[in-house]
Amino acid sequence: AFPDSVRIVEVGARDGLQNESLVNTQDKISLINALAQAGLRDIEAGAFVSPKWVPQMADSADVINALNLPNINLSALTPNLKGAHAAHDAGIKEFAIFTAASESFCKKNINCSVDESISRFSEVMNFAKEHNIRVRGYVSCVLGCPYEGDIDAKAVLDVTQKLLDLGCYEVSLGDTIGVGTAKKVTQLIELLLMHIDSNRLAVHFHDTYGQALTNIYAALSLGISTVDAAVAGLGGCPYAKGASGNVATEDVVYLLDGLGINHGIDLQRLVDAGWAITDALNKTPVSKVSVALHKK
Ligand code: HMG
Ligand code: MG
Repeated sequence: AFPDSVRIVEVGARDGLQNESLVNTQDKISLINALAQAGLRDIEAGAFVSPKWVPQMADSADVINALNLPNINLSALTPNLKGAHAAHDAGIKEFAIFTAASESFCKKNINCSVDESISRFSEVMNFAKEHNIRVRGYVSCVLGCPYEGDIDAKAVLDVTQKLLDLGCYEVSLGDTIGVGTAKKVTQLIELLLMHIDSNRLAVHFHDTYGQALTNIYAALSLGISTVDAAVAGLGGCPYAKGASGNVATEDVVYLLDGLGINHGIDLQRLVDAGWAITDALNKTPVSKVSVALHKK
């Protein structure tokens, strides 16, 4: 059954901007403030990763230090203890650790095997517990991998379970390259729900093949109530041909409105926030809802 309300985790400032050309620090700060004003309560604000790997996130500490949003749950990626220390120093109260259901992708993304990633994360987890920081987990490539192709749903279950066993309060299931379709989403989530409570799972769809909204609809119909999205559909990868960003938050909000599902977001303010950041990027939002509602 569909949930009564959905929590949207806004990842545009991280997953979106990590894949755009460099955005200046002030524009990031303005974006996050505008998202908070639009009613988003869970905002991924940056990533404490190697600046050699992802230069777009190198100013995450400056961004977070400049924010004054006591009522917003600001989170950040922390791939290892070094990242955890830096995120804590910046005042972050929610970490996100990330691994994959595909060995090859894990190696390319964080330079270790899936098992090594889990042992790295146990250090991050211990640090988080000491400091009362909650931790979210991500699994990439749940519906396909750019290097390995099809991914076995059992591999997704296995790594998701490991992240929950480590102490993650929730695991977000990433269709990193947006190849999934509704039937596969349904099969995967049905398998996971045989072992895991729906309130411990989130979905994270990229829209490369235009399937993200349909996939979200399939997940919602199975009771999933946390959805990751990026304002203006920010993102895309300069190294992966045709890759696009996350599902646009505007499109998710419009879908939820139509389904009568509560979300707490002011759609027009969200649309305005999307246009402001895409103006700074010299592009337009990748969201039909945003284009339809734009007031010039
Ligand atoms: P490594 O090279 O194996 O790490 O990278 P290392 O420990 O050997 O360190 C190498 C250098 O990096 C050293 O610096 C470290 O100090 C530095 P040097 O001595 O050469 O000057 N370093 C760091 N610097 C800043 N912050 C840190 C940090 N750690 C080490 N935390 C590492 C391993 C994990 C660091 C690297 O692979 C990395 O940063 N990867 C990040 C990749 C990334 O951010 N990917 C995008 C996010 S994931 C995603 O988008 C998927 C998701 O959206 C879900 C989905 O869609 O599927 C979440
Ligand atoms: Mg992603």
